[in-house]
Amino acid sequence: MTATPQSATNQSAQNVPAANLPGRPGDPLRGRHVVLGVSGSIACYKALEVASRLVQAGATVDVALTPSATEFVRPLAFRSLTGREPYLDMFRPHGTDGEAHVELARRADVMLIAPATASTLSRLASGLAEDFVVLTAVATTAPLLVAPAMDAQMWAHPSTEANVATLRARGVDFIGPVAGRLASGRVGAGRLTEPEQIVDALRARLGRDGGDLVGRTIVVSAGGTREAIDPVRYISNHSSGKMGYAIAEAARDRGADVVIVSTVSLPAPTGVRVVSVSSAVEMQAAVQSACADADVLVMAAAVADFRPAASAEQKLKKRAGTAGTTIDLVENPDIIGSTPAKTKRGALLKVAFAAETENLIENATSKMASKGARLMVANDVTATDAGFGSDDNRVTILDDAGGRDDLPLMSKYAVGHAILDRVRPLLTAAPASRPAK
Ligand code: CTP
Repeated sequence: MTATPQSATNQSAQNVPAANLPGRPGDPLRGRHVVLGVSGSIACYKALEVASRLVQAGATVDVALTPSATEFVRPLAFRSLTGREPYLDMFRPHGTDGEAHVELARRADVMLIAPATASTLSRLASGLAEDFVVLTAVATTAPLLVAPAMDAQMWAHPSTEANVATLRARGVDFIGPVAGRLASGRVGAGRLTEPEQIVDALRARLGRDGGDLVGRTIVVSAGGTREAIDPVRYISNHSSGKMGYAIAEAARDRGADVVIVSTVSLPAPTGVRVVSVSSAVEMQAAVQSACADADVLVMAAAVADFRPAASAEQKLKKRAGTAGTTIDLVENPDIIGSTPAKTKRGALLKVAFAAETENLIENATSKMASKGARLMVANDVTATDAGFGSDDNRVTILDDAGGRDDLPLMSKYAVGHAILDRVRPLLTAAPASRPAK
């Protein structure tokens, strides 16, 4: 089998200066070479979105299709999205120099098969390299992830179960399938995971394979706490939780095990554990429990300083003739300050946030010391283009050695990486080993 190197109609990500790549700096997919194998299922149409998302993330994407996949979706669609000629026919590969599948397998940083049919899983498990997808999977040493799609009965069939077990034992990662409506009209397990989550699973895997926070556990709190007045009313604040989720995503992309203790219901980043809480007291318990086995605590949550002294059991009623009412408040615990600095894994590195409306640096500096934080992320919440609810933030990062970095307006994901860039060198001891999962 002979073939030339890929005749790309766009530039390979590897040849493009990093600053010119699409996607977000810090995204583990940016500048990476992904081989997307597509096998024949009605879910093939979703593989187009996977390819598009990978390209938008800054990856170079080569697509290989099984003959049955081409019955569902035209290779031209993938060519249009990736700018690269898909690989179809083992006997007529495009190009003329080198073994096309070996070349493709060698260049891959990661290989994803989505959708993977029952037949493809079977061929993968037995190494039956009869098509370009399995041929490349067998020839590559890159991590292999598969996103199955099939009818629930096929997914539950003993032959599929045996193939999945074989592949898992070989280190293949499975993404789904998920339960839902299937092409047959029935509902059950077998539906392809949504493209966004598939792409996120690739990020998580690439992070775990080479990120600078591998072996570290990071706990991030997110959102404003809700302090109940009665069963239907509460005291809270404007925090959207987006900053905490963005930090969690950045930490996941760098290989950390991440726990979010959250008061909001934003979609959980794939691979991140979310503990849902409501009040400051609940958040304190959840943070302390998660931190018992963690290296870093980032308190991005906006914790209410006070809570009603008592929450009424029944909805409070308006009483005719009364001009107003008062609610007695008691102070909430200081979560970051009260979380033990010693954990099973050694010292807990604490990062605090200071959302201020005046005297930003003075207030943030004094809070850093009182909270026992090594780093303080200060932001002026009066800015209209950043902060609460926005996807962007403008922060100043202070450290306990007197350092100060005024960062420009950037995405909250980029702020997350900027914080973690400063966390990393402070984690001096090697990560404590964990029992294998
Ligand atoms: N924080 C906390 N527990 C609290 C209050 C705040 O852990 N009960 C954390 C926040 O998550 C943040 C940092 O402490 O990381 C600073 O929060 P902030 O509300 O700015 O500070 P306060 O101590 O509440 O000070 P003030 O409200 O007087 O500005």
